[in-house]
Amino acid sequence: MKGVIHQKPPTMMRSRMDISHLIHDFHSAYYWHRFGVETMPWMGVPMQKWPGDVMLYQQILHESRPDVLVETGSCYGGSALFYAHMMDLIGHGRVISMDIRKLKRPEHPRITYLKGDSVKLGATLADELQGKKVMVSLDSDHAAPHVLAELQLFAPMVTKGQYLVVEDTNLNGRPVWPGFGPGPYEALQEFKDGLGTTGFRDMELGGVHLFSYHTWLKKVAA
Ligand SMILES: C[S@@+](CC[C@H](N)C(=O)[O-])C[C@H]1O[C@@H](n2cnc3c(N)ncnc32)[C@H](O)[C@@H]1O
Repeated sequence: MKGVIHQKPPTMMRSRMDISHLIHDFHSAYYWHRFGVETMPWMGVPMQKWPGDVMLYQQILHESRPDVLVETGSCYGGSALFYAHMMDLIGHGRVISMDIRKLKRPEHPRITYLKGDSVKLGATLADELQGKKVMVSLDSDHAAPHVLAELQLFAPMVTKGQYLVVEDTNLNGRPVWPGFGPGPYEALQEFKDGLGTTGFRDMELGGVHLFSYHTWLKKVAA
């Protein structure tokens, strides 16, 4: 029985090229199929996340145990509530989530919501984050100029061993929404060209995470 379980089926031994086409097509098809906030609630609250990325958030929260997770773009608060619940399980951490819109959102003792433009609000956090282990998730306005402004402001807040997640780097044809225009991916490239992500390393995504909607950067040097 043991030998059977560990034997690779013949199709899996074939070229990985076949798989990359499948991943691309599945990503595109799934993206448009699930579009809309109703499709992925967390505890009844709309959350705009691909299920695999939710598992990645769980994984890195467990691994890096941030004192504070700063989220830009709360929307209905589903993602903030998810992070807070993971922190309940870990027994550590709080969430600062900001959004330009005032919407009804779930309350939780670990969550602080801030209302306003993320770039303006971010500039006020320095004192509060002093000496803390800080993780950042950028998920607000996805137009490149805004994401670049967020990167310039929030990336330096991320502390060694923590993660910077730039959400939706799959936009503008990578592979979804080809006509979106310059978005998070382009902003990140511009930021990297200016050596903005020195000290960060791309998280290697493999196994069940062969595609992700986002770019996951780990801060490896101060
Ligand atoms: C993609 S949604 C966030 C989704 C949420 N993180 C989740 O996973 O459920 C983007 C949110 O960013 C907010 N937003 C847009 N521009 C913003 C800005 N300049 N500053 C802060 N929030 C902004 C929008 O109001 C919207 O609720």
